[in-house]
Amino acid sequence: MSERLYLDNAATTFPKPPGVSRAVARYMDHIGASPGRGAYAESRQGAVLLASCRELLCTLIGGTSPDHVVFTLNGTDALNLAIKGVAIHRRRANPRARVHMVTTAMDHNSVLRPLNEMIQDGVRWSCVPADPDTGLVDPAAIESAIEDETALVAVVHASNVSGTIQPIADIAARCRARGVPILVDAAQSLGHLPIDVGAMGIDLLAFPGHKGLLGPLGTGALYMRPGMEHVVATYREGGTGSRSDEDVQPTLMPDRYEPGSHNMPGIAGLLESVRWISERGVRAIRDHEVSLIERVLSRLNELESGGYTLLGPRDVGHRVGVFSFLHARLDAGEIAERLERRGILVRAGLQCAPRAHRTLGSGAGAVRLSVSPFVDEAGIERALDALLAVARESERPEITVPRTRLRTSDQPTTPG
Ligand SMILES: Cc1ncc(COP(=O)(O)O)c(C=O)c1O
Repeated sequence: MSERLYLDNAATTFPKPPGVSRAVARYMDHIGASPGRGAYAESRQGAVLLASCRELLCTLIGGTSPDHVVFTLNGTDALNLAIKGVAIHRRRANPRARVHMVTTAMDHNSVLRPLNEMIQDGVRWSCVPADPDTGLVDPAAIESAIEDETALVAVVHASNVSGTIQPIADIAARCRARGVPILVDAAQSLGHLPIDVGAMGIDLLAFPGHKGLLGPLGTGALYMRPGMEHVVATYREGGTGSRSDEDVQPTLMPDRYEPGSHNMPGIAGLLESVRWISERGVRAIRDHEVSLIERVLSRLNELESGGYTLLGPRDVGHRVGVFSFLHARLDAGEIAERLERRGILVRAGLQCAPRAHRTLGSGAGAVRLSVSPFVDEAGIERALDALLAVARESERPEITVPRTRLRTSDQPTTPG
């Protein structure tokens, strides 16, 4: 079977909805200009498109102010802005203050690394453990980790390793009761699950545009609940095309947090993909994903007989369509390579979430399959058949496949 089946949608989704690449090309070929940088029609056209994308994103997440949707380079950049912005603000407000933050063992390196980097600037952080079978974090444990000096709680909504969905509304209510803002990493949930920042009590929502939102790489945003701009400092400054007579960063939203030129071709594509999602409805997309999750769960016995263990929750209500497997004999890199020979593209390794893997007992990495609205049930069945075929083939002594190193940059550090 030679047709390629892309199942690395948790890294970035592919393909994109029809019209996305055309929107990128249209911007490149017919508009080209930088919004807010000129009074001519093309620059104004760019500004309209930028504002439309902000409005649509704001509606999608149940936000109240489109100007509080701040465009970023990707999900990582949005998380950095939130974490560093809160820490810098707190330190400036009281230079002697000890700043503390809380996160979870299921969080991504895009949260863990900024936190570790900030240690040298006087930030301490606590990591709340998760259940090794499900990856679920106990909201009460998060509440217990909050100290008087806690300035932020950062929690991943859906795990990029186990697909585990954390009980965000419960965690957010506890944070609010303690007067601590919550940052939610929606990298694997926005576009997959309905999100309403107001109803869920989310103060800061960080998300990429290129994963569940189905837009181009190099897009992302941070939604800041109105008022949060008073406790999030900027961590880079520059030209905004506004208040150019002043040589200090303007305070108006969203310019304050968007110095420099925007990725307008990417945002034009994102506008198109978010329109596509909004027309279908996130609930319908979730229903489709649920049908794929159910397919995988219905074949768990068969997969387990083939030597596979699925990481994370066994019930559809607690997971998104991210499936990581361990095998009793084969390592993850070898499985991924054998799957690619069958045309199935997956990701092996630690997926930038080493603590999540250690929690789930897969510290040397796992093989991950992840879906999008463009993966159908036949595709999932084909991938599961291929996983089983790889396991059967490994039992036959006459077939020897040289163990090659993972091509991913986050390969496990155990010898390949
Ligand atoms: C849970 C999680 N957070 C953050 C990120 C970072 O997003 P980006 O790749 O857009 O920087 C990822 C990417 O894989 C992710 O899965």
